[in-house]
Amino acid sequence: MTVKDVQHEINRLTDVLNDYAYHYYVLDQPKVSDAEYDQLLNELKRLEEEHPELKRDDSPSERVGGQPLEHFVKVQHDIPMLSLSNAFNENDLRDFDRRAKQNLGHEPSYSCELKIDGLAVTLKYDKGRFVLGATRGDGTTGEDITNNLKTIPSIPLRLKEDVTIEVRGEAFMPKRSFIRLNEAREENGEALFANPRNAAAGSLRQLNPKIAAKRNLDIFIYSVSQLEGKEMASHHESLEFVKQLGFKTNDQHKYCRNIEEVIAYCEDWLGKRADLPYEIDGIVIKVDALKDQEALGFTAKSPRWATAYKFPAEEVVTTLVDIELSVGRTGVVTPTAILEPVSVAGTTVKRASLHNEDLIREKDIKLGDKVTIKKAGDIIPEVVNVLTSHRTGNELDFNMPKECPECHSELIRIEGEVALRCVNPKCPAQIREGLIHFVSRNAMNIDGLGEKVITQLFDHDLVTDVADLYKLHREELLKLERMGEKSVDNLLKAIETSKENSLEKLLFGLGIRYVGSKAAKTLAQHFETIEKLQGANREELEAIDEIGEKMADSIASYFEMPEVNALIEELQGQGVNTDYKGPRLQTENESTSFFSGKTIVLTGSMEQMTRDDAKVEIEARGGNVTGSVSKKTDLLIAGDKAGSKLTKAQDLNIEIWNEERLLQELQNND
Ligand code: IVH
Repeated sequence: MTVKDVQHEINRLTDVLNDYAYHYYVLDQPKVSDAEYDQLLNELKRLEEEHPELKRDDSPSERVGGQPLEHFVKVQHDIPMLSLSNAFNENDLRDFDRRAKQNLGHEPSYSCELKIDGLAVTLKYDKGRFVLGATRGDGTTGEDITNNLKTIPSIPLRLKEDVTIEVRGEAFMPKRSFIRLNEAREENGEALFANPRNAAAGSLRQLNPKIAAKRNLDIFIYSVSQLEGKEMASHHESLEFVKQLGFKTNDQHKYCRNIEEVIAYCEDWLGKRADLPYEIDGIVIKVDALKDQEALGFTAKSPRWATAYKFPAEEVVTTLVDIELSVGRTGVVTPTAILEPVSVAGTTVKRASLHNEDLIREKDIKLGDKVTIKKAGDIIPEVVNVLTSHRTGNELDFNMPKECPECHSELIRIEGEVALRCVNPKCPAQIREGLIHFVSRNAMNIDGLGEKVITQLFDHDLVTDVADLYKLHREELLKLERMGEKSVDNLLKAIETSKENSLEKLLFGLGIRYVGSKAAKTLAQHFETIEKLQGANREELEAIDEIGEKMADSIASYFEMPEVNALIEELQGQGVNTDYKGPRLQTENESTSFFSGKTIVLTGSMEQMTRDDAKVEIEARGGNVTGSVSKKTDLLIAGDKAGSKLTKAQDLNIEIWNEERLLQELQNND
């Protein structure tokens, strides 16, 4: 390829990938599969590595996060980032409307929007290019977090029109991502985030943008603060305009003709907020006509043309009766508050995780305290604070034990971790939790082996390690509580089926520290057999993308243990598959060759090689050989006496080669 060709290809891939990302992240309407996207992205990255000077500043490869910063640079806002006045009930809303009406001399119409619970950011675009992103700070001066914001895939790096514009919006972490993040942090003994807002703010305040890139953040743009060369008449029109430019706006906004419609909107969302995939803490009500906004103006702190209706807090008070301790799969001892049952946001809450000893100290929690409860991410019950003024003097201090509540070995606090750990590998609680993990969906996925059955098997000494699951007999199982013939047969069938699982499920199931399901897949794809993985040293492991030092160390130490190798041999002896069965990882040659990712059909007879040989050669270069011609076919190789496939390919305008051309290209792409 000439440099011009490369430039052309880089431009084409950048545009195509940005369009795919826009459909996926902004419109929530994916155009292609993840695999297809990844393949094109890899191709672009390869070209960019060879020709860094041709890389575009809106390249999707920019999203992974650049170099860490030493500190954040302060940014002076051209237009201050103000806050909003509050309304707590219908009366407050009517007051707000009355004042606006009085000042304007007519009844205004409104634009109502969800008040997203994240953090306000401002984004500047110069002639359509993203040039600066900053936090609100104190409203006048914020911090430049451009590098972190670039990692949010729904923030366009280049707009659909080359306008110079500043927009504002709320960056946030969806509820599911928040829950997953905290689960992973708990597993690693890291401090937990109290709610999605803190998690989003914490992520965007990281000096290392690679961390923000992993945090699954999103954004809704809710206003235009500066715009060159265009006049808007109303707020709802400007939302429509930013949407056309490629920004993500929240579709739930509503134009309301009067305050009655505003009140109905607020009431409606009060009941529906729990169903949203992100947290909201109220409704923002904005006078819609921009000339009305101008006429109303600002107080020192907030606009007179907008207010925030705050939902009543979903916090309730109850008594903390006890603190229970449980030992997890990795030996982490977690305290859980046992509460006097209380209804919060539609469900009865009886327990709330206290996460670790530090949190108990920080919140000064004692047994018998009156505590305020809420649901973090609207899902997980959380103790917000203690009502110390309600103390009677009968409350009791709580101290974490020195010994494991299950096996009584000494608990250890590993340096740099907040969690207390039982490090006895024979601790029954850890073994039981390890078994539960082994059979779980993302691991070996054995249906019918829930927590209860595992506990029974364990208590009856039928299973002491994961290999024992494959030695269970029908008669033993029938003796267990609530195990009829049918469930036993189904269970045995599920256990048998699990033997065929591809390697990544087994690897994840083994519960190697820091190896989540994604890393397990990477390892399985890379090594293909457990023997090769067992033989890998730390350097080889660390050389793999996505496997860091900590994980490499953990994997290598795991496979150094003789009992681990004995366990794997035992599993293999029971017929458990230890090979990777998914699609093969492309080698460098496969991913860079002409054939890579192409769907190719072979037809007719060949002279110098058989069709089977040709198939092997094409697949070795990353191509995909299929049997029939369709719109998806990229290329037809036609040998002698090619029949209907050739005619069909001609009809569909598909590229056609003869055997000679194939041989030539196979050589070129060796
Ligand atoms: S408009 C003058 N619209 O709520 C401020 N704000 O105190 C105009 N927020 O920090 C803000 N969702 O970050 C507006 N749809 C929305 C919003 C929203 C969340 C936040 C914003 C600001 C706070 C207002």
